[in-house]
Amino acid sequence: MATEKTRVTDLARMKAAHTPITMLTAYDYPFARIFDEAGIDVLLVGDSLGMVVQGADSTLPVTLDDIIYHLRMVTRARRRALVVGDLPFLSYQVSVEQALRSAGKLVKKGGAEAVKLEGGITMAETIRRIVEIDIPVMGHIGLTPQSVHRMGGHRVQGRRTGKAPGCRERLLEDATAVEQAGAFAVVLEGIPSELASEITQRLSIPTIGIGAGPECDGQVLVMHDLLGLSESFIPRFAKPYASVWKDSLAAAHSYIREVREHVFPGPEHCYHAR
Ligand code: KIV
Repeated sequence: MATEKTRVTDLARMKAAHTPITMLTAYDYPFARIFDEAGIDVLLVGDSLGMVVQGADSTLPVTLDDIIYHLRMVTRARRRALVVGDLPFLSYQVSVEQALRSAGKLVKKGGAEAVKLEGGITMAETIRRIVEIDIPVMGHIGLTPQSVHRMGGHRVQGRRTGKAPGCRERLLEDATAVEQAGAFAVVLEGIPSELASEITQRLSIPTIGIGAGPECDGQVLVMHDLLGLSESFIPRFAKPYASVWKDSLAAAHSYIREVREHVFPGPEHCYHAR
């Protein structure tokens, strides 16, 4: 396990050395500590928190203050990992000035070392201006959850040919636009593996895939998918490495039973006058 602090600039070196980049989402202190201790390269405080932490059915309700609140917990836990803060819906699309202020707040108030935003060609100027004030930007194209209504749901993108948003040729142009605007890496979400592979070969910046096959320069998972911390649905692209939901349910059942049967607390859990 590497012990040195991961910087934005290390990711390009990892791509050049063909060292896969590892990224996980985290939203609070204990899990950020665990993943950092395990040696994860990048921790993302993603707007996925709307769905996996807040219980919403999309990422759209998440606010900039929500991200800052969770960023603070994660950056307190971080020793080594690079921490990236997600710009939530409507915190950067209105104007470049709004985007600069929002990105600045994630750095200044939340302690993020970089920000992530969704969009390709249409966001290129915004990315360029944020990078110009020395805030590193991670792009995000393909299945961009903030576009859930345009996409007609959380659907795999890049299967159709054409230049319309979400089509194959358009995604190739989006990837190039994000790189040329100065992003240091780009998330490729929910696209065919072959297309992700082509984008990865074309770009000099690292690609980090989620539902984009094995040939990206790195992989990212939402921590709830990694840990089996969701009630039922496990997306095709995810692999649960633990069963935290099932184990937590079993723990709560055991606790309820032992309290009702006067098994807990036992003598070893009690304080005495002397
Ligand atoms: O918000 C998020 O967690 C993300 C990842 C899925 C990349 O954007």
